[in-house]
Amino acid sequence: MKKIKRYLVTSALPYANGPVHIGHLAGVYIPSDIYVRYLRLKGEDVLSICGSDEHGVPITIKARQEGVTPQDIVDKYHNIIKNAFKGLGISFDIYSRTSSPIHHKTASDFFLNLYNKGEFIEQTTMQYYDEEAKQFLADRYIVGTCPHCQNDRAYGDQCEKCGSTLNATDLINPKSAITGSVPVLKETKHWFLPLDKHEPFLRKWILEEHKEWKPNVYGQCKSWLDLGLQPRAVSRDLDWGIPVPLKGAEGKVLYVWFDAPIGYISATKELTPDWEKYWKDDETKLVHFIGKDNIVFHCIVFPSMLKAHGEFILPDNVPANEFLNLESDKISTSRNWAVWLHEYLEEFPGKQDVLRYVLCANAPETKDNDFTWKDFQARNNNELVAILGNFVNRAMVLTSKYFEGKVPIRGELTDYDKSCLDEIAKIKTALEENIENYKFREALKEAMNIARIGNKYLADTEPWKVIKENKERVATILNTALQITANLAIAIEPFMPFTAEKMLNLLQVTPLGWDKLGSPVILEEGHALGKPELLFEKIEDNVIEAQLKKLEETKAANLAKEVKAEPQKASISFDDFGKMDIRVAKVIAAEKVAKTKKLLKLTIDTGMDTRTIVSGIAEFYTAEEMVGKQIVILANLEPREIKGILSQGMILMAQDATGKLAVVAPEYNVKPGSSVG
Ligand code: MF3
Ligand code: ZN
Repeated sequence: MKKIKRYLVTSALPYANGPVHIGHLAGVYIPSDIYVRYLRLKGEDVLSICGSDEHGVPITIKARQEGVTPQDIVDKYHNIIKNAFKGLGISFDIYSRTSSPIHHKTASDFFLNLYNKGEFIEQTTMQYYDEEAKQFLADRYIVGTCPHCQNDRAYGDQCEKCGSTLNATDLINPKSAITGSVPVLKETKHWFLPLDKHEPFLRKWILEEHKEWKPNVYGQCKSWLDLGLQPRAVSRDLDWGIPVPLKGAEGKVLYVWFDAPIGYISATKELTPDWEKYWKDDETKLVHFIGKDNIVFHCIVFPSMLKAHGEFILPDNVPANEFLNLESDKISTSRNWAVWLHEYLEEFPGKQDVLRYVLCANAPETKDNDFTWKDFQARNNNELVAILGNFVNRAMVLTSKYFEGKVPIRGELTDYDKSCLDEIAKIKTALEENIENYKFREALKEAMNIARIGNKYLADTEPWKVIKENKERVATILNTALQITANLAIAIEPFMPFTAEKMLNLLQVTPLGWDKLGSPVILEEGHALGKPELLFEKIEDNVIEAQLKKLEETKAANLAKEVKAEPQKASISFDDFGKMDIRVAKVIAAEKVAKTKKLLKLTIDTGMDTRTIVSGIAEFYTAEEMVGKQIVILANLEPREIKGILSQGMILMAQDATGKLAVVAPEYNVKPGSSVG
């Protein structure tokens, strides 16, 4: 076993083309923050590194769509992301960015180092070129028809309709997304990292020496390695990124996945002149926190780059998480299907720890998981309020009531008192083991168990009853309960730092180190506590309903965007049209048809007669709303029986792509019976 003197912890650099959402948090940033906060509490030497990933094609596309420069886009999102992380208490030692000069220089030098050692191979390939825009087209900039499903809006790398992965040359009728012109194939030269050359090393390093990696990570690496590795291009024809630092490479930049992980190194350089100690000394433990879509880059590509360079250490672990879904649907930035961190912070002020708690308790550590607002509410109300908050509040309030808010003097401990305190000492070990093995959900459960023990302790010892005959015993009970509270404040800090701080305030103590956890005497007798205050509050149904409504609206908007108008029906003759008797009528009575969800029974004045029409509009109009309305009907439609009612004609309705119905009516009231045509 190698000795560990310090830790270098990195979190995947988020793309600066959109804000951060709960999926990113649960997958990467909450786990990494728990890990580094824990190490800091233990007094370890640790750096937590992150920053914005500001290159790549999606950023240039977004800029083009919005009519601004890529720099404008990354400036905007870099700030949004950085502030949102700060708001949630994600405690990076630095949040840098890959458009910074120090990163450009570091990445260029890294490229040149490998280039000069002959670690790249050069290859000429055929690439689509837009002759009007005079530039090579990234795969995302080519649109055409998918050969598999005929979707005419497929991209050069993927069809989003049927999900198949494509090559730009697979597309039928390819067009440039920039000018709309037909692109031509043209030769272009690129530099490739020969991953095949590093394969034997990778097999040994991962498959033999890192069997302890999480099964999802190890498994993905193994299947990549078993398929055989190919050389990978490290440059692109693009005008946004770090220029390839070679003569004759004008118009070419480093591929974003080449420069971004080097960003971890640049950010460390920016943070401390001591950076080399963290990157080049074998006694540093390097850990990369990422989501599952980043595994190949962090376990195969970046280590190959580091190895080829030769001066750097390799990661000790890459604890990647799976994905978090939202209300059973895949989170998607482009479909706006997400809970955005910056919005959460605005809508739920002071509730940072509720989100941290829920996302950790429900983290997709071994499989994809689902975030639901109902679960969010339930965990807040039944766990944070009912267990954690309740215990701390009872210990505080009882002490204030019986002992003027001073830690009472402890008498002889009963066996039961001792067993509770012993259990907490055991929890310390369990917490450490789980956190050090990246099992944060389990760890959080252990931390919460301290509050559970505390609650049970108070329920079992019943100080509010004992006070009548034995105040000394109550002093011991509350002293014990307060010691448990102090333990709890330490244990939850990595997970819920805001609450931990509030608890320290309640207890009127300065930050307690991890060492103290498990100790039965943290607070001194006679020590004065602060005023009792609630740590959490119940979240009401209407708050949750408002969030669900917001998601409903997103869904409807997406559907309306996706669904195109139906194609036109076959032509009909003028005669055919003339056969239809369309008229204005007026609703004089309406009622819901019993035992149905959609049907209204309408009594209408057609100008010719009074008749009944049954219509499937009850989801959009109430009976009361319909009464008095002018409508348009097809009067001579064959009568039909619907739910035992004879319906004489049909009401004309407009229906949008989501199925929503709207009554069609004359622009101003006309006499019932007026013909329409
Ligand atoms: N921006 C990438 C993503 O969001 C992650 C980059 S991680 C780095 O998927 F290592 F390349 F920085
Ligand atoms: Zn398709």
